Amino acid sequence: MENKEIKDNKTSENGDKKKVVLSGIRATGNLHLGNYYGALSKFVRMQDDYDCRYFVADLHALTTHPDPKMLHENVKDILAEYLAAGLDPDKNTIYVQSDVPEISEMYLLMNMHVGIGELMRTASFKDKARKALGIHSEGDEIEKEIIGNQTNQRVNAGLLTYPTLMAVDILIHHADLVPVGKDQEQHLELTRRFARRFNSFYKTPYFSEPFNFNFGGEAVKVPGLDGSGKMGKSEGNCIYLIDDEKTLRKKVMRAVTDEGPKEPDSPVSEPIKNLFTLMELVSEPSTLEHFKNAYADCSIRYGDLKKQLAEDILKTTLPIRERILDIRNNDEYISKVVRQGAEKARETAAKTLADVREIMGIRKFY
Ligand code: ADP
Ligand code: TRP
Repeated sequence: MENKEIKDNKTSENGDKKKVVLSGIRATGNLHLGNYYGALSKFVRMQDDYDCRYFVADLHALTTHPDPKMLHENVKDILAEYLAAGLDPDKNTIYVQSDVPEISEMYLLMNMHVGIGELMRTASFKDKARKALGIHSEGDEIEKEIIGNQTNQRVNAGLLTYPTLMAVDILIHHADLVPVGKDQEQHLELTRRFARRFNSFYKTPYFSEPFNFNFGGEAVKVPGLDGSGKMGKSEGNCIYLIDDEKTLRKKVMRAVTDEGPKEPDSPVSEPIKNLFTLMELVSEPSTLEHFKNAYADCSIRYGDLKKQLAEDILKTTLPIRERILDIRNNDEYISKVVRQGAEKARETAAKTLADVREIMGIRKFY
């Protein structure tokens, strides 16, 4: 609700300071339904009640070596997608990570308190290291392979220290809440650990501990259309917000299913569960109920299920797609939004960085 008495987006109607929300998405390609339900839709829902800062993580994207010509376009895509999904630049601070150089300096400082071992044990690091080296080892083996690797492939140090940079993104704003998908919870756990470690090392309760936020529910994991696992850019199983109607329908109609239930109340297989999970996100509860009942009494036709699912996904994505195309053509608007965002983000970031330098003993002679 609009209230003329509110002077800025940092204070709520009753005069209390709003909680700080911070989140970002790497600039590695267009956003898909996983990003939307895991992150972006939460960003939008939070914008009225919190002091929100949302950014595009272009420095994080560098860890996987994007084509330099593509990186800028990718940043622009995500900005257009943020705005098209409904983020209001007057309510939120929307910025590009590299526009805030204070983050890079604090990343260097914070790394002094981060252990190589704990970084090497991070699940996302192990995944990316495996990909970089083209190996499939599990458990501790991966660490030996990274150190002992004799080939030309290397795992870059930026990938290892990814969680430090993410922690700094969050701590530099003293964020309370960080809306992200389930796969990011280990990074949040590390952020809390780094915050506690900093506080106890310097004997000052400087950082508070940030938590994921999911409107009281579980963090969502949007499944892919290929029958297993999560929807993800590198899994090649995505429905993108920018997909046109024909592409989207085709993708849904090709989703993996099974042979169908043979007897009433059969257990539901993984691919069908996934379709139900997607339906839970995009369809009316009664629609989902209808198909679940049809599954239970063996009358279900997967063709109908998919058609309905495509229809309901399109209801969400098509209006967003239209707006993405519009905004993407409006360079002036995009640059105004990020300039204003960078200014606001740098205000807080500069203050935190100055404090951290002071706490750590970096002082000037002049
Ligand atoms: P991707 O896995 O496609 O590379 P990112 O790692 O860039 O996506 O994720 C950006 C945000 O979207 C994060 O907050 C992440 O938790 C969320 N996210 C990504 N995929 C999913 C998914 N399948 N389900 C729920 N959230 C997701
Ligand atoms: N690691 C997040 C991802 O892969 C992106 C990210 C970087 C982020 N810094 C962040 C998310 C800070 C939340 C807060 O999606």
